[in-house]
Amino acid sequence: MSAPLEIVILAAGQGKRMYSDMPKVLHGLAGKPLLGHVLDTARVLKPTAIHVVYGHGGEQVRAAFPQADINWTHQTEQKGTGHAVAQAMPQVTDQATVLVLYGDVPLIRPQTLQELLSAAGNGIALLTAELDHPGPYGRILRNASGRVIRIVESKDASPEEAKVREVNTGFLAAPAGKLKKWLAGLKNHNAQGEYYLTDIISMAVAEKVTIVTHAPGDIAEILGVNSKPELAQVERMHQKQQAEKLMQQGVTLRDPARLDVRGELTCGRDVVIDVNVIFEGKVSLGDRVQVGPNNVIRDSTVGDGTVIHPNCVIEQTDIGADCRIGPFARLRPETKLAAHVHVGNFVEVKKSEVAEGSKMNHLSYIGDTTVGRNVNIGAGTITCNYDGANKHRTVIGDNVFVGSNTALVAPVTVGANATIGAGSVITNQAPAGELTLSRAPQVTKPGWKRPAKKE
Ligand code: UD1
Ligand code: CA
Repeated sequence: MSAPLEIVILAAGQGKRMYSDMPKVLHGLAGKPLLGHVLDTARVLKPTAIHVVYGHGGEQVRAAFPQADINWTHQTEQKGTGHAVAQAMPQVTDQATVLVLYGDVPLIRPQTLQELLSAAGNGIALLTAELDHPGPYGRILRNASGRVIRIVESKDASPEEAKVREVNTGFLAAPAGKLKKWLAGLKNHNAQGEYYLTDIISMAVAEKVTIVTHAPGDIAEILGVNSKPELAQVERMHQKQQAEKLMQQGVTLRDPARLDVRGELTCGRDVVIDVNVIFEGKVSLGDRVQVGPNNVIRDSTVGDGTVIHPNCVIEQTDIGADCRIGPFARLRPETKLAAHVHVGNFVEVKKSEVAEGSKMNHLSYIGDTTVGRNVNIGAGTITCNYDGANKHRTVIGDNVFVGSNTALVAPVTVGANATIGAGSVITNQAPAGELTLSRAPQVTKPGWKRPAKKE
């Protein structure tokens, strides 16, 4: 039987170079905190425990992740990565394999970690990478026969050691029992006066523990976030990966560099997405959906064959098949549009159900409303759903024609097949099949003259 897996996530750093009052690991990547990405990745590995070592902005960090599957360990003072891991160890069983992750290295993939764990066996596995410019990373030092013997931090490296291009990414897997002992023996006699996690390597070597290395599939996986430019870089890489995945699945992206998916986007076949579209939360697009430029779509579903013209804002809305939305439409939460519905420019729909084939093409507000089938809502129609204290519903039957510039003062019902004359203010029920209008009759004053300016 293989050892149980316990994951330790280091997240105590302040992130000085973010120049922010918010703890570093709470900064957003694709709409989710950095630490959230790492936690989600950790969960994919089905560990028996997840330990998060937190420090700066402690309560804020904990409050952002109320999930019960996290063991929080406070590191009061940041004395180095070895010290940080040691804070979690009293809660870790000796039989476990410990996997160390970082709250500010969000693009690491579960598959890479799985490979790292498989490589570790009963020994230590280090995730390492070859870099042309190894810069601030710890260097992997090997002996003549190629075995890892030590990691030296760049600040402690001799000029010769600094030339080594194989670097420590920080990710490692190690047996818990031995790790506890090694961590207890760490010294901080180094350039930074810190307890280095990396110093366990030479201790393990002295005990003849096997040390293997493994490389990530993609260099983006190991990038840490220490500043806003790095955050933006990681965001771009993440977006590029998501765009790539969508295109691999058959989605046409007019420009993969101008798409942002901040959540989960699923697409049917032959979907076309134009530039500058932002998807937030959970969005699903059916077959043959076309999304024009400059749309923001959040937590919504879009049916087969629907076209979303440019510049719409769509939130918590279910759109049926073959609808035409926009340009410049706003669909607000709890809206359901059936098939073949048209919502045109400068139309806002909120908390309403619209049945098949109905159209509202210009300058309307439809809120708290039930709209029947094949209804035509004229330009400038407003449902007056709010009396200053409470919200009320409007019910519009099948085949109704609402003339332009009508105010429907809720609660109000318009019966099936009714016609409302343009410019009406409807405050009482409008009976089915009849023409109802409330405007004053048109008058002409013969010979009337406009006032003239006084001399
Ligand atoms: C560490 C590695 C280095 C590696 C690099 C990869 C050590 C000693 N060095 O260096 O070999 O190349 O990562 O990025 O491990 N943290 C805490 N508490 C602490 C100290 C750090 O939670 O007391 C967290 C930080 O928030 C950060 C991570 O651990 O997320 C790494 O710490 P950092 O000080 O940045 O390590 P590096 O110097 O980058
Ligand atoms: Ca770092």
